[in-house]
Amino acid sequence: MKKRREFLKAGLAGSAVACVCPFSVLPAASAAPAADSRIEVLLDEPQGRISPNVYGHFVEHLGGVVYDGLWVGPNSKVPNVNGLRRDVLEHMKKIKAPVVRYPGGCFADSYDWRDGIGPVEKRPRRTNFWNNADTDKSPANHRFEPNEFGTNEFVHFCKLIGAEPYLAANLRSLPATEFQHWVEYCNSPAGSTTYADERAAAGYSEPFNVLFWGVGNESWGCGGNFTAREYAVEFRRYTAWLPNYGKGLSLVASGPGGEEWFWTREFLEEIARKGPGQLREIYGMSLHHYAWNLSRGKTNDWEKGKGDGLQFEPVDWYELLREGQRMEGLINGHWQAMAEFDRDHRIKLIVDEWGPWYRPGSEETPGDILEQTPTLRDAVFSAMTMDIFNRHAGKVAMANCAQLINCLNSLYLAHEDRFVVTTVGRVFEMYAAHQGGESLRTEFSAPDLRYDRDGQAARFWGLNGSASLRGKNLLLTVVNPHVGEPREGEIVLRGGAFSSGNVTTITHPDIHARNTFEHRDAVMPATVPLTGGERIVQVFPPASVSALAIQLR
Ligand code: AHR
Repeated sequence: MKKRREFLKAGLAGSAVACVCPFSVLPAASAAPAADSRIEVLLDEPQGRISPNVYGHFVEHLGGVVYDGLWVGPNSKVPNVNGLRRDVLEHMKKIKAPVVRYPGGCFADSYDWRDGIGPVEKRPRRTNFWNNADTDKSPANHRFEPNEFGTNEFVHFCKLIGAEPYLAANLRSLPATEFQHWVEYCNSPAGSTTYADERAAAGYSEPFNVLFWGVGNESWGCGGNFTAREYAVEFRRYTAWLPNYGKGLSLVASGPGGEEWFWTREFLEEIARKGPGQLREIYGMSLHHYAWNLSRGKTNDWEKGKGDGLQFEPVDWYELLREGQRMEGLINGHWQAMAEFDRDHRIKLIVDEWGPWYRPGSEETPGDILEQTPTLRDAVFSAMTMDIFNRHAGKVAMANCAQLINCLNSLYLAHEDRFVVTTVGRVFEMYAAHQGGESLRTEFSAPDLRYDRDGQAARFWGLNGSASLRGKNLLLTVVNPHVGEPREGEIVLRGGAFSSGNVTTITHPDIHARNTFEHRDAVMPATVPLTGGERIVQVFPPASVSALAIQLR
């Protein structure tokens, strides 16, 4: 049985749902039952500020993410700003994209940053890490990296959208000096070093001031096949001296790819063995979690366990959410393991890859490896995941949805002059106002949903979500995962009173619904005024995500 870990280590080298209606079509004008659920928002119980960076993104040189995705080139007929696809820039500004991780992913640990700087016509072509992945039908620039897009273009992109760049250094195949030199290229003051002069020659005299740096990626797998202790030794060596120009650097250690508590423990134990002060070098520890195994416990094989992105039954819908819900246990578990070495929790969790991962076949552009077309299921999954991050605001300092465009859980799909904001992108719109808000304890009480999981009775929570407060503005986001039943919730604001508000909901009668190049607005959020007073009662449609924006008195 091949697991994802082994796959990457190899260097890459229901029908029985408790619903009487057909799952793809809701009963017409279904009458909502009497309030069956209660949501209590405890305005006087803040749980920590939601880091804006939790709403972060990820761009890797993988398939159609960069070429034909974000980057079309300055001479393209596709509307662009300095070669960057204009539609992407505009939407990312709208959702207030706070941070973008680059250049990988597995690509990062085979990347020489120098290949991507200097005059474009002189940049070398290299074999892309993902060259051997699944297909030989992809365009040449997906398999052989032309380096038209590199550090300058990436940082310029971040500046245009107002996001922080987060760079992942190559720990597997470049020496530590190259990490230092990349930092120097990005951050040394104008005129101070040869690298600063090279940067200026490219049109960027002012330093990029890149704060976030990943020290390798998935170092247990494609990032070097290290043990946790071996990686800790390398981490210490690569970070023993880095120039920070008086501004500091936030270094992210490569963390586990799931429930490997041993990785967290052994890594931190080895770091601290040199002295507890060594822990202070670490800003965050990464955590990756993909929901990929939809086999309902039948296999752990990385290929056989995956499900289809578009063809699925309600049981597969619930299975995906169940896999996604594991995120909460991962955050709590690794946080607890971290506390054994870092008692005052200076080190935060950085969930820098998350999303569903299906088998190939749901690409909007055939030949784009790892591309999926998100459906309503992925919108619900993404909302549920972001609610988990909000509920753990004090623990998770950053998260990066994998990946921005033409990839796994993408906000956008694009090919040549065609472009669409996916269901996932729409959910990012609805959740943007959580950024920087104070997370509030919120209690959801709703009947669990029940479904048949291969003859076994299975349950999943009936309603869940999160709430945040900025001044008098409350944002309450709520997921109803049931494919066929609405929930009617009574919303109680403890410690505050409703003044006015509106509710934005994304749903569709068909749980497979998705936005495509042909049907760009098939699944769209709709906003209506919220009526309330002492008591707010809201119907949450089946298979929906709702965002209640409430102005308090
Ligand atoms: O996001 C796709 C790949 O998944 C990344 O390159 C890697 O880090 C992870 O295994």
